[in-house]
Amino acid sequence: MDTKWIKTNEITPKEYKAAIAYGAELLNNGEIVAFPTETVYGLGGNAFNSEAASKIYAAKGRPADNPLIVHISYIDMLEEVVSDIPSVCRRLAFEFWPGPLTMILPKSDKVPKSTTGGLDTVAVRMPSHGVALDLIDAAGIPIAAPSANLSGKPSPTRGSHVYHDMIGRIPLILDSGAVDIGLESTIIDLTLPEPVILRPGKLTFADLKPFVPRLKENRYTTISNLEQPKAPGMKYKHYAPDANVFLIPSEDKGVEFIKTRDIKGKSAVIVSENRWEDIKNYINPNLKIILGPTGDFEALAHNLFHALRQCDVEKIEEVYIEEFPEDGLGEALMNRIKKAVVK
Ligand code: TXA
Ligand code: MG
Repeated sequence: MDTKWIKTNEITPKEYKAAIAYGAELLNNGEIVAFPTETVYGLGGNAFNSEAASKIYAAKGRPADNPLIVHISYIDMLEEVVSDIPSVCRRLAFEFWPGPLTMILPKSDKVPKSTTGGLDTVAVRMPSHGVALDLIDAAGIPIAAPSANLSGKPSPTRGSHVYHDMIGRIPLILDSGAVDIGLESTIIDLTLPEPVILRPGKLTFADLKPFVPRLKENRYTTISNLEQPKAPGMKYKHYAPDANVFLIPSEDKGVEFIKTRDIKGKSAVIVSENRWEDIKNYINPNLKIILGPTGDFEALAHNLFHALRQCDVEKIEEVYIEEFPEDGLGEALMNRIKKAVVK
């Protein structure tokens, strides 16, 4: 299959309109299209069409029991996708949509189980990226989309990542360069009497709690901490580069750890600015990636997946990555990093 790769930032308004119209046409014909969101790139198909879901699974090499997130562009679309809209959902939508929040709700009959991985619930989100909103509007249908990476690879945060993974597998990539956040959306399950966060993201427990009084605090860094693997994605290997990944502990322990390592193969270090200053006299990596200023979690999150992908490009065998404090966005950051560490 030929893959059309359109850079939406480098074309005229007229060409942009045509690109969106082409994407919408593909979606309405049951084809799949990669598009940017503010979190990561998505690989979308008509949420009401089982065959589109099959094409998404095939392109990603993802097991078909891993449910997709349905993306909408205006609030009335929610009623087509969900059978019952609790008031807490309306509150969250009013406060955080469009934005990096995915809500799990009971699915409507229109959404086939192939979209939801066989579940009676559906994940819904209204992204805030202009290209995503334009595409969904033009298609006039909700778009089911997981992240646009090959299964097991870090989510794509640049159009070039999507191109690398999806060339020859899908007909169209809408590329608007680097995304804003760089980590996937926060997922909250509203189908339980006491809602829980299934996946941490930019929006944290503290952000959501005021709008969801019954929200239960939980830890989701490993599947064993969940009573039930409610976010089925958790049972699959995720975010992992090909290399072995090691955490550099915080404070002085990190320097001690680095001193004890006897590195034989090609190595990479992924750290914040100050951490590099601490360890630079004790390690000479083949690839040095400074994610951003120490404590600037937005910059660190923004650059993490690109850094992990760089390790594969450079055929790195050992990756040493900083252990960040788990507060605020640091929690989502460490959640992704720990998944890269686990083999
Ligand atoms: O930011 C994001 O969420 C991005 C952009 C494209 O919107 N999407 C994304 O999708 O990262 P991804 O690859 O994580 O796949 C969807 C995940 C599943 O792996 C699963 O964990 C969760 O969403 N999910 C979807 N439907 C669910 C459901 N009914 N119940 C529980 N979890 C669900
Ligand atoms: Mg994914």
